[in-house]
Amino acid sequence: MSMDAARTSKALGGLHVECYGEVASTQDAARALRVQPPYLVCASGQSAGKGRLGRRWQSDKGGLYFTLAIQRQKQDWAVPLVSAYALWKGLSSKVLSLEMKWPNDLYVEEKKLAGVLVEGWDARLGIGVGLNVNQLSFEGDLASSAVSLRMLAGAEFDLEVLLISIVSGMLKAMDELAWHGFRFFQPALRRVLLASDQPVKVIRANRICEGRLLDLGPSGEALVRSSEGELFTVPAQHLLEAR
Ligand code: BTN
Repeated sequence: MSMDAARTSKALGGLHVECYGEVASTQDAARALRVQPPYLVCASGQSAGKGRLGRRWQSDKGGLYFTLAIQRQKQDWAVPLVSAYALWKGLSSKVLSLEMKWPNDLYVEEKKLAGVLVEGWDARLGIGVGLNVNQLSFEGDLASSAVSLRMLAGAEFDLEVLLISIVSGMLKAMDELAWHGFRFFQPALRRVLLASDQPVKVIRANRICEGRLLDLGPSGEALVRSSEGELFTVPAQHLLEAR
């Protein structure tokens, strides 16, 4: 079933929803909308999908691409980590060996299944999610580095059903974050992130630094050991992309 705005809105308690066939980027479409958050913009494909740190997000038909716009909240630095955790939680019953990689990617056996990009716009945040769902294969570099739910399960998924369950889990997580703060999520996030040995790449003093994730602190900071053996922390504030 293709995604329908009216049905999705009804299933999400009247949330404002816009669904497009193809857009440049749901992030930009959501940013241009003048509607009171929360609201949702989804598309079947994107011609200029954006990834983190200025990368492109390949957005062919078959994937799920959406932006959930929310009101900024007190601990908005935690939104990237908590939204990726909500996505992990929503999918972990459907996918074996699902790993969350710091800060907000989902992998299965070293292949990327989903990514989250959170941008701050004025008093709003745009949580952008790209999830590989019904693609049967990937081309170029992605052939060896990406995987879809269909490739894992051998069956097709209903994009609208998936969208509704993921967005409702994310809205719930955002409410919990607003009410209880990041400390409500830190133990579970720490457990999920530290379940696998994680290589991380961060930009430090204008250069890319590679290392391993050692811990996630109470303020969302990542404790990292660089490949040269130096210990340093990366504040969660660095995860929010300004625009
Ligand atoms: C990443 O892993 O680099 C994050 C990828 C985020 C992609 C999604 S697709 C929907 C939304 N619109 C975009 O242009 N990007 C995000």
